[in-house]
Amino acid sequence: MSIEAFYRDTWAEIDLSAIEYNIEQMQKRLPQHTGIYAVVKADAYGHGDVQVAKQALRAGAKRLAVSLLDEAVKLRRAGVTAPILVMGWSRPEDMPIAAENDIAVTVFQKEWVDQVKETSFNKPLKLHMKWDTGMGRVGIRSTKEMDTLLSVIKASPLLELQALYTHFATADEEDLTYYQEQTARFQDMYEHFKRVWPHPVEIHTGNSAASQRFPEHMHHFVRFGISMYGLYPSPVVKKERPIDLNPSFSLKSQLIHVKKMDSNEAISYGATYQTEEEEWIGTIPIGYADGWIRKLQGMDVLVDGKRHPIVGRICMDQCMIKLDREYSVGTKVTLIGKQGNEIIHTDELADYLETINYEIPCMISYRVPRMYFINGHIVEVDNTL
Ligand SMILES: Cc1ncc(COP(=O)(O)O)c(C=O)c1O
Repeated sequence: MSIEAFYRDTWAEIDLSAIEYNIEQMQKRLPQHTGIYAVVKADAYGHGDVQVAKQALRAGAKRLAVSLLDEAVKLRRAGVTAPILVMGWSRPEDMPIAAENDIAVTVFQKEWVDQVKETSFNKPLKLHMKWDTGMGRVGIRSTKEMDTLLSVIKASPLLELQALYTHFATADEEDLTYYQEQTARFQDMYEHFKRVWPHPVEIHTGNSAASQRFPEHMHHFVRFGISMYGLYPSPVVKKERPIDLNPSFSLKSQLIHVKKMDSNEAISYGATYQTEEEEWIGTIPIGYADGWIRKLQGMDVLVDGKRHPIVGRICMDQCMIKLDREYSVGTKVTLIGKQGNEIIHTDELADYLETINYEIPCMISYRVPRMYFINGHIVEVDNTL
């Protein structure tokens, strides 16, 4: 257990038991032969990549997926030995690092393979070929590109084509026409692939939305991201609720100052908030440098199991809330999560900010220490500051 000290009154709590629960729910819904890639890119969507990766593997995920080679190398340095896939574009000159660390990478450009061949490495480099079936981001789009790519891969004994994959743009939506078009395009390309490549390969296509809505369409693996963290990928999937989920991220703080203000007094930069009567105002030590952005002005937080609004502009390190009565310094404040019978769900914050829930834990910055819990007990504290 590693407990790093921190000296501030704002922190995030990550429930690793929830990660385990969510993986179990997903695995139960999938056919037995379909395994799970735990998607831990972007510091595990802000939850902490090493901690989530290790818990996901303990819970039954077979592999890990990240976006950057740096993220994969970080996991290796932390002692993670499970297979890791880098889903983003990596620089060809860095491929000896990937091969040396047994990190699989994504391939979709012939010129990239040509440049990789000019580098020097002794261990096989595992490749996952990305097919752009409609996301329009990265990947090959035609069987002609596939043939060219396969011919350069085939000519190099240290390049090992391990898998084929694609990514869906609309698997979380009500209207599934485009999802079906992408699936059909993948199938057409696969028919061609089978004719020209006789060796076995793995296939993974589904994200959280596709894997919980259409488990029977999934192949060898799914890439399970947002729902591993206990959030549904969209309101449509949340309504359908194909699997039960437990959110794993909460955000806590404490009152560091409480005062009674007269009416007609101003709060924070720009003096935009004016008290209308005598008001109890509390200060909490979180601001936009922690990812608690200025647009959250007016959002509620929980004190004493009740909602209280953020008043005035959010500062870099602090913000103010209007209290319903006097509270003592040190009183707990919940910004995301449950307190008593009230809850501020990540989805509510996403709605307030007119964004998606994915963005919320990602935006809570490195300045906020992460405390890890298993079955309600602290197992680790990570303060990266
Ligand atoms: C290629 C790829 N696969 C899988 C995922 C995981 O998606 P989700 O978080 O919706 O499960 C992502 C996330 O954006 C991704 O980019």
